[in-house]
Formats: sequence, C-alpha cells, structure tokens
Amino acid sequence: MSEANLPFNEKVYVNKDKSSTGEKLKQEWEKSINNPLKFWAEKAKAIDWFKTWDRVLDDSNPPFYKWFSGGVLNITYNALDRHVKSKKKNKLAYIWEGERGEVKTYTYYQLYREVNKFAKALKDFGLKKGDRVAVYLPMIPELPITLLATVRLGGVHTVVFSGFSAEALADRINDSGAKILVTADGSYRRGKIVPIKNNADQALQNTPNIEKVIVVKRTGKEVTMKEGRDHWYHETLTNAGASAYVEPEPMQATDPLFILYTSGTTGKPKGVQHGTGGYLVWAYWTLKWGFNPNEEDIWWCTADIGWITGHTYNVYAPLSLGITSLFFEGTPDYPAKDRWWNIIEKHGVTILYTTPTAVRMFMKFGEELINKHNLSTLRLLGTVGEPINPEAWKWYYNVIGKKKLPIIDTWWQTETGGYMIAPLAGIELVPLKPGSATYPLPSIKAEVYNEKGETVDVGVKGFLVVKSQWPGMLQTLWKDPERFKQTYFGRWPNIYYTGDYAVKDQDGYLWLLGRADEVLKVAGHRLGTVEIESALVSHPAVSEAAVLGKEDPVKGEVPVAFVVLRSDISPSEELRLDLIKHIRTTIGPIATPAAIAMVKRLPKTRSGKIMRRLLKAILTGAPLGDISTIEDEASIEDIKATYEDLKRQLEK
Ligand code: WT7
Repeated sequence: MSEANLPFNEKVYVNKDKSSTGEKLKQEWEKSINNPLKFWAEKAKAIDWFKTWDRVLDDSNPPFYKWFSGGVLNITYNALDRHVKSKKKNKLAYIWEGERGEVKTYTYYQLYREVNKFAKALKDFGLKKGDRVAVYLPMIPELPITLLATVRLGGVHTVVFSGFSAEALADRINDSGAKILVTADGSYRRGKIVPIKNNADQALQNTPNIEKVIVVKRTGKEVTMKEGRDHWYHETLTNAGASAYVEPEPMQATDPLFILYTSGTTGKPKGVQHGTGGYLVWAYWTLKWGFNPNEEDIWWCTADIGWITGHTYNVYAPLSLGITSLFFEGTPDYPAKDRWWNIIEKHGVTILYTTPTAVRMFMKFGEELINKHNLSTLRLLGTVGEPINPEAWKWYYNVIGKKKLPIIDTWWQTETGGYMIAPLAGIELVPLKPGSATYPLPSIKAEVYNEKGETVDVGVKGFLVVKSQWPGMLQTLWKDPERFKQTYFGRWPNIYYTGDYAVKDQDGYLWLLGRADEVLKVAGHRLGTVEIESALVSHPAVSEAAVLGKEDPVKGEVPVAFVVLRSDISPSEELRLDLIKHIRTTIGPIATPAAIAMVKRLPKTRSGKIMRRLLKAILTGAPLGDISTIEDEASIEDIKATYEDLKRQLEK
C-alpha cells in the first residue's frame, strides 16, 4: 500500500458520537509508559497466580526480558478451573460448527472435563513438563482441547497449520524436538476429505523424536495405524476414564508456553517462543481493551488456530476472560457463499473478527447474499492480518456494520503475542479513519524511523519500531537466541524492529503499509519469499529462483516466481505445473505462486545479487530507475518478454 492516497483527514464518528476526545485513552497510555511496573502489577491481578511474581519485569539481560519472574501459574487453571468454580461453570465456552453443518457446544465444565481426560491420556503416554507436542489438526474441538491438555501438564505445543505439507510438518517437528504428534484421520475442505494422516505418515518417516501419534477420528476414512506408535484419540479418552482429573502443573511465569513457526527472511522458518505469564496477561488485556467482550457476547474470531490469531484470540484470551466463542471448521463459500452470514444469524454472533481478504472476497460476492440474512446481533467488527485498504474498510463499515458498528483494525504479529495498535472499544473509542489502526495500546511506544534510525516527520513513510517492552513480547526464537537478537533488536539496539512500513498522520494515527522485508502476506498468511525460492531450487529442473509479491485485489498480494532452468531443461507448461505441485508438497497449497516465468537469466548486480527491485518494477510496469549496477542489461529484455505470459497466468 502506498501512503499517497490515504484518507488522513477522514474521520468516522460511529453513531455520530463526537464526544470522544481520546483523553481517557491517552491517560491510560501515559500511566503505562510512566510507570510500567505499577501499571502491570495492577493488571496482572486479573489472572489467578499460585504464587505472586517477585519482579514485574526483569530487564537485566536485554533483549531477553522476563515478565513476572518468580510468579507461578497454570494457564489452564485460568482458562478453565477458575470458571468451573464460579457462576460461569455452565456457561458456553465454545460453540463449534463443522463444515457439514453439525454443531457441538462445550460449557466451561464440559471443556474442563475433556481437557482433563486428554491431559490424563498424555500423561499416561509419558508427557512431562517442558516436553513438546506437535499438533496437526483441522479446526475441530480436539484442537483447543489438545493445546489446553498439553499446557495443563506443562508441555509446550507447536501447532502446524493443517494446510502445510508433510515436509513443512517434519521440519517443525524436528526443530521443536516434539515427542508426541496429535493429528486426525482427515479433514474436510469444501466437501472433500483432505488426507492429513497421510501427510503426517510421510512426515513421520523423518521424525525420529516422535514416540506416539494420537489420531482423532474426524472423517472415518481408513488410515494406516502403526502398531505401538499410533493410538485413536477417543480410545485414549476411554482409557483415561470419564472422571479423570489432572492437577494443573505449577509453571513459572517465564516457562515457555508454545512455539509457533513463522516465516522470516531466510529459508528456515523461525520458532517464535512465547512464555506463560506475560503472554497470558497480554492476551487477556488486549482482548478486553480491544473489544471488551461481555457475558452476553458470542465472539467469533475466524482465524485458524494454526496461526497466532487463533492461539491468542480463539483459545487463551477468550477462555481466560470466560466468554463464549464460536469457531468454524469450513471455508466461507461452502456450500454457499453466504455460509458465514448463515452462521452469524443462526448462532447470534455479536462480534466478528476477520481478515481484510475475507472482507474483499465478500465485496466481490455482492451485497444481496448479505442482505438476505439478519445480522442485527452484531455489535462490533474487527480485522487483522494485513493492511485494510480504505475501500474495503468502508464496505465493511457500510454493508456489514450498517454504518453503526466500529471497525477494530488490530495490527500485531506472531511475535507480539497480541494487539499492538488498534482502536480500543474497551477503554475509549476514538474517531476512526478508514484504513488506520489508530493508536498504540498501553505500554506500546511505537515510532516511525528512517534508514538512519531517526523519527520521520508526519506523513512520511518509514520503518515501524517499538521502543518499549510489553508482557506479550516473544521470549526468544526456539533454540536460536542469536537469530532472535539479530532479527528483532539487531538493527537498532534495544528497539524492537517490526519489519513493517508505517506512516503517522497529523493526528498521531498510525497507518500500516505492509512489510518492509522479504516477507509476503498472502490472504493474511505470512510467507517468506526466500522460503518459496528454496523450495523452487530444490526441484531438479531449477537452478535459480526469485520470488516477489504482486498486488492482488482480493488476497492483498500473491507470490510470483521467476525461475532459471538448468541448461539441459526447456520450459514447458508441464514443467510449470510440476513446479506448482512441488511447492505444494514442500510448503503447502498456501504458497502456490500465482504465476511462474521461466527465464534464461535474472537481472543481477555485478556482485551477483538478484535485483528484486528491478523485477518488481518490470512486474508492475513501474519505471526501472537506476540500472547502472546491473551486470547484464539484456536480462531486462528477457524478463520483459515474459510479461504477457505472466499476465495470462495471473488472470486465470
Ligand atoms: C504481519 C504479521 C497478527 C496476527 C496475524 C498475522 C501484517 C497484521 C495487520 C493490520 C496491517 C497487518 C503486518 C505484520 N499485519 N495485522 N491490522 N494492518 N498489517 O500475524 O502472520 O505474524 O503477520 O501481518 O505486516 O508484520 P503474522
């Protein structure tokens, strides 16, 4: 997104309420900045601790910040036990709708029972504090149950999105050193069965650490069960017994809670590690500040639990707040394009939290499908995952929100644990601007820097950095503290580098402008260009590859690949399809390039660096700019010659 056409001056007063001055929000922010220790000591009381912390923040070894050090808690005690002991016992924790329309509900008590049973099963399999559990499951109730059962025992989960390939799964299992894998006999996607157990079986050929595989029966499709290693989930529950109870393991606030792999600027995904106490406090307060969900709400976060949004806002934040969440197994357009509106109407969803890609897709489907449904239960709308263009924002506001509902645009990252910049309906809702995430949350000192690390002027695009610490920040990268330091705190010492571009307007509103590094956001999913390039060059026909993002009207951006073939290979349609297949099996369908051009050479500098800037300019038809450092000018003509072919592929 470019800053040139942003509506810096367009204020939207929801319900024409012009009384909000932003004063309350400013006060809360200032309190958090002036005395963070006092501020967080107060906020942390919302959580039940087995033992209070010794220090709110131990910053003796930056950037390895320790939040609530000395504190002892268990996150499932906060998500379950404490509600079971309260009036919330029989309140719904989850409403789940399956792809085929079946509905299952779980009260806090029922969820507590299921989690205890599965925790007992995991314990019987030998899971101990600190052990890692890999989770490769579709959006079914067993997914949050597995996470909660794991962390009840002090285990560390690493969820691998069920759309990732066998190879991607194996890499993550091996890097995390997981000894148990929980998966399913299949998942449903648009009425078809995706054989995820087959993927898991393939991965398991190269994962020597895995001792046990627990398989949820979701589809009933026949799968191979390896004697001694593979066990049916439902049988483990029967063995655990209906009244199983497992004491929640007392965890240090600084003990790791989970690892979640995310793409960075190299071929190897980063294992973002979150801790227990700080993360929970941040999850709790960010949801409360952002949406302030109440006892009557039905909160629907549409993200898959395979991503951070699902971890924080489908599991830990709503459960620790004791609210009712809905989650859904399927896709928005199956069996019909109004599936979501159907769900909202049927269950009376009150808060919808989704992605700009989904909003743009519904814009394309048209208003008629929406107006057929009664969406009057909705009271708040939210977005996350990628920049929302003002046009999509306005459509969301006008058509879904009927010009009455605030849009809570939440900017954050896997690494930040929870919201960082967002309108805060739970403190004070400031006037909104279509396309801006508004102001930073309490404790977040966000600035926009130029290359030299100086704060830029109002209206100037630069790098978004955070100059403060907050409880939800990642602890480190799993087994790679050096990369953690380099990636996030290496550019400007002790300042958190986000990797995003942003601009601040005259009112201090922040506008997020997309990634400043080699990371793509495709339909809100995070993918590394280098990861896709590595996958391409691992194909026997490819000697070099360059991948870049091209703007897409629905998905935000899509990957486009330029490949140089080995000298004995000639380009063909068959090869192109084979390359696509190769990406799908090495990473997963989400990384599929929208177009692949086969070229003789790539434009490079004399020192051999691929000139991506030039590739991008050619791709978008922008001026080429300075090409004096290019090694071989003829390569430009080569690339230009692929233009028509790329256009044809992209139009498909
Ligand atoms: C990247 C982080 C945060 C949960 C889901 C994505 C982009 C995220 C917004 C937003 C503009 C956004 C950024 C960020 N992003 N939310 N509201 N406006 N951009 O987590 O996969 O770690 O991706 O998503 O570029 O760096 P993630």
